[in-house]
Amino acid sequence: MLSVSVSAAQPPTPVHGQEGQDAPWVVTPQALVDTMLDMAAVQPGERLLDLGSGDGRVVISAAQRGLHAVGVELDAGLVAMSSESAAEAGVADRTKFVQTDLFEYDFTDADVITFFLLPELTIRLRPTFFNLRPGTRIVSNTWDMRGTEENPEAPGWDPDETIVLDPCPGFCSAHAWTVPAKVEGVWRLTDGGKLELRQQYQMVEGELWTGGRRITLQEGRLAGTILSFRAAGVRYQAEIDGATMAGTTNQADAWRATRQP
Ligand SMILES: C[S@@+](CC[C@H](N)C(=O)[O-])C[C@H]1O[C@@H](n2cnc3c(N)ncnc32)[C@H](O)[C@@H]1O
Repeated sequence: MLSVSVSAAQPPTPVHGQEGQDAPWVVTPQALVDTMLDMAAVQPGERLLDLGSGDGRVVISAAQRGLHAVGVELDAGLVAMSSESAAEAGVADRTKFVQTDLFEYDFTDADVITFFLLPELTIRLRPTFFNLRPGTRIVSNTWDMRGTEENPEAPGWDPDETIVLDPCPGFCSAHAWTVPAKVEGVWRLTDGGKLELRQQYQMVEGELWTGGRRITLQEGRLAGTILSFRAAGVRYQAEIDGATMAGTTNQADAWRATRQP
């Protein structure tokens, strides 16, 4: 008698283009994966998280660069395929694939987050990303974080960098952001001056009050925890550490400020 054994636990073989919970499975071309990792300036030992990890290619590529990489993927077949590929690539010990909904997953201990999701998901994740640890790098295939779900033309969080591959390997643009420190508010300088800062993601506007003068800031910007701006021709830079910032000007003057309650 012919007996056929079928394991009920075996997930269906994934098919490229198949529907996912919130986005279909479509792969990032390897050339763009490499570009995304370069844009994040990944370093061995860092922790990378790919949201909706598909066949695991971003996770595996990161592990091949010495990172500890995690893929979050809802599809059981893709999780199985990714684990097999990671073992074949010899990076099983630095990779993990978690079969769960990315909206249920805690991103907070990642140094680098990558994703290739749909525009509305990217917008939905924006507040979560903005509240991650300052300095966390985020890189997306194709979709950026401008606009709102209702109005894609509305202002949002501009990328710090965009790269478009030419020739295009299928999907060709990648966008990168670094989570900025939160600086909005009033800061008292140790020399008696005052800084009033307003913040829209990494862009900073405001005024410096010093020596009885009110100077409008120009080119205010945050790169993670580094704030820079120009005031009356002087370039200021400082590192934010919680409620204090400390740095120098381009005239080699040290300066320091404390956040006012
Ligand atoms: C466009 S593919 C990207 C795959 C991979 N990151 C890459 O760049 O090649 C998106 C993936 O997200 C997965 N996905 C969709 N919604 C998800 C959710 N809510 N939680 C976890 N994974 C999800 C899909 O199954 C699919 O594999």
